[in-house]
Amino acid sequence: DWTMAQFRDTKIAEIREQVGDGKVICGLSGGVDSAVAAVLIHEAIGDQLTCVFVDHGLMRMNEAQQVVTLFRDHYNIPLVHVDAEEMFLGGLAGQTDPEKKRKFIGGAFIDLFEEEAKKIGGADFLAQGTLYPDVIESVSFTGGPSVTIKSHHNVGGLPERMNMKLVEPLRELFKDEVRELGRELGLPEIFVGRHPFPGPGLAIRIPGEVTKEKCDILRKADAIYLEEIRNAGLYDAIWQAFAVLLPVRTVGVMGDARTYDSVCGLRAVTSTDGMTADVYPFDGAFLSNVATRIVNEVQGINRVVYDYTSKPPGTIEWE
Ligand code: XMP
Repeated sequence: DWTMAQFRDTKIAEIREQVGDGKVICGLSGGVDSAVAAVLIHEAIGDQLTCVFVDHGLMRMNEAQQVVTLFRDHYNIPLVHVDAEEMFLGGLAGQTDPEKKRKFIGGAFIDLFEEEAKKIGGADFLAQGTLYPDVIESVSFTGGPSVTIKSHHNVGGLPERMNMKLVEPLRELFKDEVRELGRELGLPEIFVGRHPFPGPGLAIRIPGEVTKEKCDILRKADAIYLEEIRNAGLYDAIWQAFAVLLPVRTVGVMGDARTYDSVCGLRAVTSTDGMTADVYPFDGAFLSNVATRIVNEVQGINRVVYDYTSKPPGTIEWE
């Protein structure tokens, strides 16, 4: 696409101009935005960019490995992979309050990021995959409603503390445009088309206490759900689809035995920016097939429900 090709060239020139021979550090989340920002900046300034991936162990199935493979092996971008699963799960132990879980994860994330940034000798710039709706949302938060629905996880405060300036090449773009730019930059479709994923990861898809065991159960159910969605050719028609693991056990029957296991919730919505959302209307046969597969294949789940709530009044994530 000619327009996106031109946008790319313009941004590359701007990044070179802004950064000069300075050092840039970029946090990768596994999501589309930070990946596109990193690849664009790498095209502009090469090895002046270092990426840091703080891996909280709360990613979907195989996603952490995909990030490392893509950036380190495919793009040859210097990448620091911080495996912090134990630290995050340790800190989440006993926590059940959604905001406390979010605050802990956000805080720990910033601390680890800062530590790694110092280890590589600091940087002059911090790169972020901020999009246009993020810019709008933070403006309306300061000027508008004084109620925080959910505290979002970003590197707030860090640029000032470490005396870094921000590089935000995607600030004018909407999600679909970021995807187009990602394709223009040759990012693989599995990355570019990927549904948005929240910073706190699976922790906010496990209401109540988060444990490694619950994360593993949820990852399996989520992977089956997404596999069926992809096989049905529906992935790109959906803004976000994911499984949730409820802190509720119910009675079921498998073969001739009674089971007493967890409930899995399925969510799928359409949206253009995540601010409002409609429920994706799967047909019943699709959902029963997914439910059957999850109950048969995932030990620990014996019941599956579908979330029929739009946003508002529901939010997309359950916490
Ligand atoms: P909610 O649940 O508020 O989510 O309707 C709206 C969109 O934002 C994503 N989300 C987050 N993204 N950090 C993020 O980067 C967060 O803490 C966070 N919380 C929610 C959510 O997945 C949806 O796309």
